[in-house]
Amino acid sequence: MEIKTVKGFKDILGLDALLFNEIQRVGYDIANSFGYKLIVLPTVEYAELFDRSVGNTTDIVEKEMFTFEDKGGRTLSLRPEMTASVARSFIEHHMETNPLPLKFFYFGQCFRYENPQKGRYREFYQLGVEVLGDISPLLDIEVIQIALKIIEQFNIKNLKVKINSIGCRVCRPKYKEALTEALKPHYDELCPDCKRRLYTNPLRVLDCKKEEDSLKEILPRITNYLCDECRKHFEEVQRLLTELKIPFEVDNTLVRGLDYYTKTVFEVISEDLGAQNALLGGGRYDYLVEDLGGRKTPGVGFAMGVERFIEILKGNKFKTPEKKKLYITYDKKFGSNAFEIRNSLIPDFVVEIDPKGDSLKKQIERASKRGSDFILIMGENEVLENSISIKDLKSGNQIKIKIDELKESLKELLKDA
Ligand code: HAM
Repeated sequence: MEIKTVKGFKDILGLDALLFNEIQRVGYDIANSFGYKLIVLPTVEYAELFDRSVGNTTDIVEKEMFTFEDKGGRTLSLRPEMTASVARSFIEHHMETNPLPLKFFYFGQCFRYENPQKGRYREFYQLGVEVLGDISPLLDIEVIQIALKIIEQFNIKNLKVKINSIGCRVCRPKYKEALTEALKPHYDELCPDCKRRLYTNPLRVLDCKKEEDSLKEILPRITNYLCDECRKHFEEVQRLLTELKIPFEVDNTLVRGLDYYTKTVFEVISEDLGAQNALLGGGRYDYLVEDLGGRKTPGVGFAMGVERFIEILKGNKFKTPEKKKLYITYDKKFGSNAFEIRNSLIPDFVVEIDPKGDSLKKQIERASKRGSDFILIMGENEVLENSISIKDLKSGNQIKIKIDELKESLKELLKDA
């Protein structure tokens, strides 16, 4: 029987793979330019890490984790996200002894046992940044700017930045109480999960896709309950966004599906994405490191769904910058010269050598089937004259040049091709 990919898992092929690579490259370049350092984290962690960070009454931990026992009896999970791992790594390696804040960039796969649909998979990639060790709203703005700068490199528009503040341990309990009170009369309308979470984690009702928007609209607004510190922080974030001319919208129902957030939360939404419309999400998590046993260390960051970004790029017909493809054909006697020529042209061009070196006609046929732009011909005449012919496969034009001038001539020739 043919073996296929597992439900919710997929191969990334062709154009998707090119875009995947380009997103990673641009993400790294931009984050690096903002002073962020790459961090590479393990895909498997102790399940407890996510219980204590993402939260054990969230959908992610309650329903979506790939959790298993290893042969040594440890309860492990495939990571559903990477912020918790960054915090774990920060504590484990005593990074608090460095000058703070520390700034990280990551790119890697995450796993969530969700019902697969467009833009929602069981294995997906996240590109993200995290800043640890500073409370300033300037850093909330910095991470939003990084996200937008990455998106901007791909000329993508029609995106919406939504923000909210979900307060802190001082002000959120009062809001939760008010929310529970307001929800009680609507108990019968709630989905089974929200009924269960009404007393433990009522914020999740705002996040639940099953609840009606009309219900969410009549609920108390968190921004009316913020303490002085959280209110000032949120006002400053909005002031800075306005000053920097970053269009945004305050959405008081935005609470995000992870429990570690405090103060600012945000999402970037694209109408091109359909039901799963969040391209990226993030926010502040000022207690996360402390809750995991570290020193009090505030943090802020975001993660972007790479597959969702690929969808948007394909919809916008984004073209990856590609090198010109050359194909070397040769007289069998001079096969080894072809390898030398290729060596001199890499990595400026993509260069393939014909595998057979049979008749020129057959070699040209293969070159055109492989989508080559230009053919380099090393026939007997060319080799004797220390030259090489270049054939443009589109126009059919052919010129002969000296081998010493090959690289420069190709660059000149291909400039407008
Ligand atoms: P999140 O909103 O759960 O946040 O995920 C971030 C992004 O990952 C989403 O906006 C979406 O694009 C993508 N994503 C999530 N689930 C799936 C899925 N099943 N299939 C495809 N893409 C998906 C976090 O994970 C936080 N750690 C973000 C963060 C970083 N907050 C602070 N720092």
